[in-house]
Amino acid sequence: MSDQLNISIKKTAKSRLAETDFDNLPFGKTFSDHMFMADYSDGEWKNFQILPYGEIGINPAISALHYGQSFFEGIKAYKHANGKISIFRPDKNGERFNLSAQRLCMPELPVQTFLQSIATLVDLDRDWVPGKENHSLYIRPFMFATDPFLGVIPSTSYKYMVLTGPVGPYFSKNLKIKIETHYSRACDGGFGFAKAAGNYGGAMLPNLKATQEGFDQLIWTDSREHAYIEELGAANVMFLMDGTLITPSTRDTILKGVTRDTVLTLARNWNVNIEERRISVDEIIAGIKQGRITDAFGVGTAATIAHIAEIGHNGELYTLPDPAQRVFSNKVLNTLNNLRYGRSADEFGWNYMVGQ
Ligand code: PLP
Ligand code: COI
Repeated sequence: MSDQLNISIKKTAKSRLAETDFDNLPFGKTFSDHMFMADYSDGEWKNFQILPYGEIGINPAISALHYGQSFFEGIKAYKHANGKISIFRPDKNGERFNLSAQRLCMPELPVQTFLQSIATLVDLDRDWVPGKENHSLYIRPFMFATDPFLGVIPSTSYKYMVLTGPVGPYFSKNLKIKIETHYSRACDGGFGFAKAAGNYGGAMLPNLKATQEGFDQLIWTDSREHAYIEELGAANVMFLMDGTLITPSTRDTILKGVTRDTVLTLARNWNVNIEERRISVDEIIAGIKQGRITDAFGVGTAATIAHIAEIGHNGELYTLPDPAQRVFSNKVLNTLNNLRYGRSADEFGWNYMVGQ
């Protein structure tokens, strides 16, 4: 397939694989031997190449650095017991990649090119995909503007790149979450639905403050009233209330997560009652107090299924049922692990197989 795109491949002279500690993989710190890079100029994508992971020279005036024309994706590849490697639903990320591109006035990348770049890179570095449970190869495609020009207009040149690296769980424990009622991540008409770099930069101060108060993450609320639940800092959020799976409906302030879609699809298949709708903070707090909320969790690529153990709101801390005893989220996690590691049938066609 790689000859379709005409990817030039320059392999590393010395692999770092042997010196990598696969028993100690904090998220996002270890990178595989190679990376993918392509350029956009004169209205087309070109120079498709795989090269050793390392620094790239950039002009200090590039508009990505000054005005934030930059966005990314997050995907995972898994190793099956028989050595085969699959990437989980990368076509969905390819579609979202182009939604982000459109919103930021950046060029789209054909989904086929996106898939081919990732599959070729992962295949080349297939020995970097960990085999251990809850471990995977994290794939980070991204695009940024490269015109060396300080005018505030869309760049005419861009780079598309893909990095990969073996990872363990993003969250190593059950989450203590704060419902954010002062800061906002996104607003109506804004670009919260895009995986824009700026969404994450702007979230760092509120996140840091929450961390200093002893929380692991925020639940963002709507920017008008701070009365409705939106999502977590790095995942969508779901609750089981009176046996119904409830999650905020997606809108322009919320990232439409691939994992969110995956969990909703499984739940629908299991005949679980689902409501995608506006969810007020008051409803959640009342539901916890009345014992009607039996499960609460974040859903995301890096986060996987992250149990929420405690929720803080207006100075009060509310404790949810013991995560180890929760039926629904644990069933989802097990089902997804079995599917992703090739231990059960891929009935939805979610595993994109790499190589042979
Ligand atoms: N919301 C935000 C803000 C995220 O960063 C992520 C992670 O990608 C998600 C939701 C979950 O999206 P996905 O399941 O596609 O990874
Ligand atoms: C992901 O889940 O892939 C993310 O992008 C979340 C995060 C690490 C920012």
